[in-house]
Amino acid sequence: MSESISIAVVGSGYVGLVAAVCFAEIGHTVICVDNDERKVAALQGGDTLIHENHLPELLNRYRNNRVRFTTDLAEATREAQAIFIAVGTPQSETGDADLSYVEAVACEIARSIDSYKVIVEKSTVPVYTNEWIRRAIERNGVEQRLFDVVSNPEFLREGTAVEDFLHPDRIVVGADTPEAIKLLGAIYEPLTGGEYYNQTGAIGGCCNASTPPVLLNTSIKSAEIIKHASNAFLALKISFINAVSNLCEATEANVEQVAKGIGLDSRIGPKFLRPGIGYGGSCFPKDVAAFRSVADQFGINFNLLSEVENINASQKRRFLAKVRSALWTLRGKKLGVLGLAFKGETDDIRDSPSIEMIRMLLAEGCSIVAYDPAAKERAMEVLPEGKQLSYADTAYDAAKDVDALLVLTDWTEFVELDLPRLHKTLRYPIVIDGRNLYDPGAMAALGFTYISVGRPTAHPARESGSLTTPGRRA
Ligand code: UGA
Repeated sequence: MSESISIAVVGSGYVGLVAAVCFAEIGHTVICVDNDERKVAALQGGDTLIHENHLPELLNRYRNNRVRFTTDLAEATREAQAIFIAVGTPQSETGDADLSYVEAVACEIARSIDSYKVIVEKSTVPVYTNEWIRRAIERNGVEQRLFDVVSNPEFLREGTAVEDFLHPDRIVVGADTPEAIKLLGAIYEPLTGGEYYNQTGAIGGCCNASTPPVLLNTSIKSAEIIKHASNAFLALKISFINAVSNLCEATEANVEQVAKGIGLDSRIGPKFLRPGIGYGGSCFPKDVAAFRSVADQFGINFNLLSEVENINASQKRRFLAKVRSALWTLRGKKLGVLGLAFKGETDDIRDSPSIEMIRMLLAEGCSIVAYDPAAKERAMEVLPEGKQLSYADTAYDAAKDVDALLVLTDWTEFVELDLPRLHKTLRYPIVIDGRNLYDPGAMAALGFTYISVGRPTAHPARESGSLTTPGRRA
């Protein structure tokens, strides 16, 4: 039986909250700290605040017993053996990560340290941050023997966060003292030793007792770079396939076939080769910019990352051009939009390509009816309803009497739509899909004009030629 450890998690966002309930799930006692009283009260009452699979059940199981929520960081610091910092590191105006929240938390922790603590940085931070945390704590009068600072980056994805935490590809621990390495080893032992996967009711995923995740011990700086380099590499993979998809469009090749063909090479792998309207979310755009900025500061030429960003930005402009060429003129056109979140199965709209596309289309004079299974409330805060924009309660309502339907987020719900019903609902059966959710042949057979990314446009079986304007059908 693994040892139960007393853990504090500072920050109750995606990473902090998921880490808190998952540490409880593997047997530890957790105090989750947030300085937002309303958030803490909501979490105490069982409201997860974010849309995430498995989170409601874990929160209900552990809240107010193995996981407590509080605003009192001093008390949490005194009680915990390990304190995980999981507060936001937003992008500053210069592209660097803004570390002021991390610094504030480190100073507050320092004021309450009365026995040996391991302070673990889980937020995504640039190399050398752990060194700054250590100095900040020392400057607040804490003796070096009373604490260690560790880097333990998190690799979970929104939408599958709980499963990713409990079934990670790897656990990275950057630490340089035996005490810190031992404590972090003990915290993750239920996963790395395989014990969790035999537990009744364990959440399923790719790991099991005979193939548990590996824990990789590294230097602190290597761990910090691993996190930034991983996200930058994934973003690069997406921009690469997006650039390839543009070439496929120009040559009438099919990017799905090309992605399959290159992904079968085990050195490349099939994942993260889905073309679309560009990556978004709270991580990739900010982390690519921060990593580029870190390289700049050390005099390293990493222009490759600027190109990754350029391709990503141009992908949205290309999509807008596609909408224009399908509809001829945009002013006054009524469009249905499926998807507001930055990807499927989440309600997060931070840096969502869909929100940016909607802004561009509104600026072109289109009117839009948008639908998302979970992100409507958040979207309404940044894009309020008005003369040009309204929100629908179902995908079919968004498609009603529109000149074309745009698919901007890869929700499973959209893959499962009743396409013949959709066809009847649209004024013109034109679907412009920025996520390649449907099979072009099947769409043509159903009578749609179907425009997607990196694949030849499919025309209704009875229609030929490439003009797809509503005017042609009238
Ligand atoms: C990403 C990483 O995948 C996680 O490993 C990491 O822990 C996390 O950032 C973080 O740093 O916290 P996440 O932002 O939740 O996770 O989302 P992803 O699933 O990686 O998708 C990011 C964006 O790329 C989305 O807009 C998605 O639609 C897009 N994407 C993804 C593509 O356009 N094509 C793909 O093949 C894959």
